[in-house]
Amino acid sequence: MPIIEIAFTSPNLNHRAQQLSEKLQLPLREADSATYDYLLELSESGLSLVPSADKGYGPISCDFAGGSHSHRRRFGGGNGQAIAKAIGVSGKFSPRVLDLTAGLGGDGFVLASLGCSVTMVERNPIVHSLLADGLTRAVTSAEDDSELREIMHRCRLVEANSADYLQQGEKGGAVDRVIQFQ
Ligand SMILES: C[S@@+](CC[C@H](N)C(=O)[O-])C[C@H]1O[C@@H](n2cnc3c(N)ncnc32)[C@H](O)[C@@H]1O
Repeated sequence: MPIIEIAFTSPNLNHRAQQLSEKLQLPLREADSATYDYLLELSESGLSLVPSADKGYGPISCDFAGGSHSHRRRFGGGNGQAIAKAIGVSGKFSPRVLDLTAGLGGDGFVLASLGCSVTMVERNPIVHSLLADGLTRAVTSAEDDSELREIMHRCRLVEANSADYLQQGEKGGAVDRVIQFQ
């Protein structure tokens, strides 16, 4: 099992880090801790999964208001994108979508950007935490961006195993948490 610890970059994030530690059952990093495989790091710019230097790749986080998501939203080809064609999104048809393997929300966010109402379901608690953080920060950024605000109103995030979710719905005990991004 990889060693994963929670870290935070400023004292005012201590409380959130404690909550995350309890929810995910992961230890807070001590100053004199030995090596780790991944840090789940809370900073002023959000939550990131930071691999140890030997992994050869950089931090993983969700940024829906900027970076590649923002570029794709503006210049990414709209309804001509493969994921949109696959479910038949058009100017006249914006289906409700259940994304049963939400991951870091890339597909779900594209579909919400194209007018679909999207419920994203993710079972991995760490991936879910990264996605919840990214979507929550996007809502804050959307205060100055009416288009992004509408997109975020169309997003919901469910923490559950999709198989249980499909069998039991949201009231059957299969779901840990539902977040509506308003
Ligand atoms: C390849 S990623 C999905 C990528 C995503 N479509 C995107 O655009 O970023 C697969 C994700 O599905 C999640 N997953 C797989 N099986 C699942 C299940 N039964 N219920 C909920 N989530 C599941 C995994 O935890 C993982 O985060």
